[in-house]
Amino acid sequence: MTDLILKKRHGQVLSEPEINWIIAGYVAERIPAYQISALMMAIYFQGMDATETNALVRAMIASGDTIDLSGIAGIKVDKHSTGGVGDKTSIVLGPMVAALGIPVGKLSGRGLGHTGGTLDKLESFPGFRIELEMGEFIRQVNEIGIAIAGQTAQLVPADKQLYALRDVTGTVENVSLIASSIMSKKLASGANAIVLDVKTGAGAFMETPEKAGELARAMVAIGQGLGRKTVALVTDMEQPLGNAVGNALEVREAIATLRGEGPEDLRELCLALGAEMLVLGGGAPTAEAARTQLEAVIASGRALEKLRHLVAAQGGDARLVDAVDELPGATHQSVLRAERDGYVTALHAGKVGIASMLLGAGRETKQSTIDLGAGIELRAKSGTPVRAGDPLALLHTNDATRLPEAQSVLRQAFTIGPEAPPLRPLVFERIS
Ligand code: URA
Repeated sequence: MTDLILKKRHGQVLSEPEINWIIAGYVAERIPAYQISALMMAIYFQGMDATETNALVRAMIASGDTIDLSGIAGIKVDKHSTGGVGDKTSIVLGPMVAALGIPVGKLSGRGLGHTGGTLDKLESFPGFRIELEMGEFIRQVNEIGIAIAGQTAQLVPADKQLYALRDVTGTVENVSLIASSIMSKKLASGANAIVLDVKTGAGAFMETPEKAGELARAMVAIGQGLGRKTVALVTDMEQPLGNAVGNALEVREAIATLRGEGPEDLRELCLALGAEMLVLGGGAPTAEAARTQLEAVIASGRALEKLRHLVAAQGGDARLVDAVDELPGATHQSVLRAERDGYVTALHAGKVGIASMLLGAGRETKQSTIDLGAGIELRAKSGTPVRAGDPLALLHTNDATRLPEAQSVLRQAFTIGPEAPPLRPLVFERIS
């Protein structure tokens, strides 16, 4: 192991057998964490080429189970987002795409951070079961076209160990390491094709579009290298997506979007990602044709009907799709108001995320429990003109002691200046 650390420290290329030996040895506890830490730091500085990265991905996948979705008819297309604030696209996209006949078998995670993950959000429907046996999961996708469940199999244990180590050794922010970490999990989940939403901006891992583009290219190369059609969009996460941040609040906004009444940025991103999914899944010849179909499936109510089917199939109270006021709520509200006239020139997604977590919507540690009704409704976003005293946001929580700190962090998320800021694109780049 010492020789291999030195080899990488000197900028040489590790071979596939060497990488296999390292990963297998680490998972089996034959190689100590301090040597893996040193190797991660060497990789952080020297990088890895495409051959090494693909070898690492294969070795990581081999460390655990892989999911076989071959029992589901059709081309299985998965979507993955690198994570952002107010990102409820999966809850909109899944039903939209499934309503057009593309099978959606999504294995999702719970979230650590500003809000829960897709699974936590779906638990806003009382009774919704996220634990499905693999047989049940496959049967449900074949019957109604969609299932969203938690991972029961031991997927990529090597990544769990490596990510935890990188987190405490200052070695997370390396493109090859992030790309192999994310893609190993996606590839082990069994989809035939993958659409990646790589976020950039103040609420994202990769703050600049250039860095996000680099990560997107690395992930697409891994997907293609391992025989999966992969497309990535680099999309904006400078400010939160949509107006709602928090679990039940985001479900309400996802339902509004499926009704054709959601915020423009969320709708537009769902159409862009959905079009990529539809083309990869063989449901449309071009992205333009796909968009027309997606718009039609919203207008006809078929996408919303698919959400009702999904909720009912997994034991949830589907009546709430049409009675959103009965979704989990909050006992305490407070309004954040503008202190001066002007325009919102910046709305820092990361800070909105922290404020939302402080209200109880997210997990600070794995053990934290989530307040499904907590969160933030944004009343102004970047570019909105405001007068002193106008509401900028409405904060919700079931624990009033949380309001002052959340309010103070949320205030710092807003910058108000004399002139409207330049418009940022929603999609910066497409990589295929
Ligand atoms: N998310 C992951 O799953 N892995 C990383 O390395 C970074 C973000």
